[in-house]
Amino acid sequence: MNAKIQITNLYKSFGQQVIFSGLNLTVYKGEILCIIGKSGSGKSVLLKHCIGILKPDNGSITVDGQPLTYTDADAAIVKKFGVLFQGGALFDSMNVYDNIAFPLRRQGASEEVIAVKVPELLSHVGLTGIETKMPSELSGGIQKRVALARAIAKNPEIMLYDEPTTGVDPITAGSVDRLIVYMRNTFGMTSVVVTHDMRSAFRIADRIAMLYNGTILFEGTPQQLKECQDLVVQQFVAGRASA
Ligand SMILES: Nc1ncnc2c1ncn2[C@@H]1O[C@H](COP(=O)(O)OP(=O)(O)OP(=O)(O)O)[C@@H](O)[C@H]1O
Ligand SMILES: [Mg+2]
Repeated sequence: MNAKIQITNLYKSFGQQVIFSGLNLTVYKGEILCIIGKSGSGKSVLLKHCIGILKPDNGSITVDGQPLTYTDADAAIVKKFGVLFQGGALFDSMNVYDNIAFPLRRQGASEEVIAVKVPELLSHVGLTGIETKMPSELSGGIQKRVALARAIAKNPEIMLYDEPTTGVDPITAGSVDRLIVYMRNTFGMTSVVVTHDMRSAFRIADRIAMLYNGTILFEGTPQQLKECQDLVVQQFVAGRASA
């Protein structure tokens, strides 16, 4: 399989706090990789490293074989990514239409194309007719779906999802899961999904990686995770599955 993102020997500390101490992880082209790990273990920080928002103290990250350099030269790499940040913030001052149109306008799409794409993207996330609503008029779950529509608007090669099902009801969570799988199946999108929701991870993941103490403690298929004998892994999975 082809590596899409290759993280090699990653070190990162914030002051005295060590977040990564020699972390290695490969994300393969077209796969859905779920990242699990307890709160504060560095899952969001890891995603931010993948798109060059945070710079490693040591180690390297390559995308399609191209290393991030933390200069303007990274723009071509960063363009390949769509990101749904934890919290999925929308632009408060823009209505739903303009929020979703934003990345398309930045790409130089015409207003005619945008007028077709916005309702299409909304329908992908199970929404219709809310184009003129402001974010403050929407529930958290709906805001998250709009943020998702915005994140996939550019049809990115790689999608990073940070807790896409947190704070949404189980039915919406199920539709978000299906959307992640649909995007991958339809567009061959490589997907990295940070989640605390084990049930969702087992449903959608091709592989699961568990972050623990600054490195990847486990990496493998959902079946391999179920069979993993490591006590820390077992306890985490059992704890989350019953949570
Ligand atoms: N920019 C930053 N400066 C200093 N410390 C940071 C920064 N970003 C994150 N941290 C710290 O790094 C640690 C890991 O944070 P991170 O947000 O990656 O955790 P997480 O695994 O995503 O947790 P959660 O499941 O709660 O979202 C936390 O202790 C956090 O406070
Ligand atoms: Mg996080």
